Amino acid sequence: MTADKSKVAIITGASSGIGKAVADLFAHKGYSLMLGARRIDRLEKLVNTMKKSSSGKISFCELDLTSTDSCVDFAVKSLKEFNKVDIVINCAGVALGRETAEAANPSEWEKMIHTNYSGPIRLFRELLPAMKELGDAHIINIGALAALHPHPGSVIYASAKEAMRMFLKCLREDMLGSGIRITNIDPGITKTEFALVRFRGNENGVSKMLEGLSPLEAVDIAECVWFAASRPKHVNIDQITVLPTDQSSPTRLHRTT
Ligand SMILES: NC(=O)c1ccc[n+]([C@@H]2O[C@H](COP(=O)([O-])OP(=O)(O)OC[C@H]3O[C@@H](n4cnc5c(N)ncnc54)[C@H](OP(=O)(O)O)[C@@H]3O)[C@@H](O)[C@H]2O)c1
Repeated sequence: MTADKSKVAIITGASSGIGKAVADLFAHKGYSLMLGARRIDRLEKLVNTMKKSSSGKISFCELDLTSTDSCVDFAVKSLKEFNKVDIVINCAGVALGRETAEAANPSEWEKMIHTNYSGPIRLFRELLPAMKELGDAHIINIGALAALHPHPGSVIYASAKEAMRMFLKCLREDMLGSGIRITNIDPGITKTEFALVRFRGNENGVSKMLEGLSPLEAVDIAECVWFAASRPKHVNIDQITVLPTDQSSPTRLHRTT
């Protein structure tokens, strides 16, 4: 199915990994895009490449989810540029470290809470009136398998993702009758820059974590996003959980070596 060319998608976390794969796929489907992230040099390069092959209008704007002003500014600029939003896909997210609660760094906790929860919910809040006016809009959030199973070394990341899941469920209750669809997608291990950020740049740590595993690719998640987005408007996919075949929980993995 190809998208109506006039459709507009706002995508956070588009500078890397899942967000970048989602942006590529939606551009290919003919959507107009507003891309957000902190590394605007990357967004600029991506947009310049996409413009060559996409029929939609592609724009980008700096977004730092740890700053309320930046979230509001991003929403205002997106609506000014496109006048509407059909779908907002929140792919930005971060996990920092794997320390236990008493050993963790509180400023990293704050970054995780803002990036995975407070920032995106403020962004959704700013976009809701325009989405409601459209009467046929969609919010898709990339959560995490981590939110579904308690496990050590993930106390803030997992709880911020779980808070977002409940926010989205409550929002769906509040928005019932508005035509707004809401989807949460929880991936397991996916090969992106996520682990490198979590291991604070330690490539050996990442290699060890992925040893003997066949993780998901970013495009696997992008295809789930597209599946949810391309259902007929009377169909709301509430929740998708997608794992590598060799993973059954955050801590249970089958390794071939
Ligand atoms: N990869 C996995 O194994 C995995 C598993 C479960 C869930 N997830 C979730 O999947 C989502 C996508 O992650 P990924 O795997 O694609 O990782 P990634 O490659 O590290 O991408 C993360 C994205 O989030 C953006 N971001 C980080 N902090 C931000 C901030 N303060 N403000 C705005 N944007 C910010 C980054 O852009 P800038 O740095 O340019 O700002 C980047 O575009 C995240 O929500 C993550 O929690 C990933």
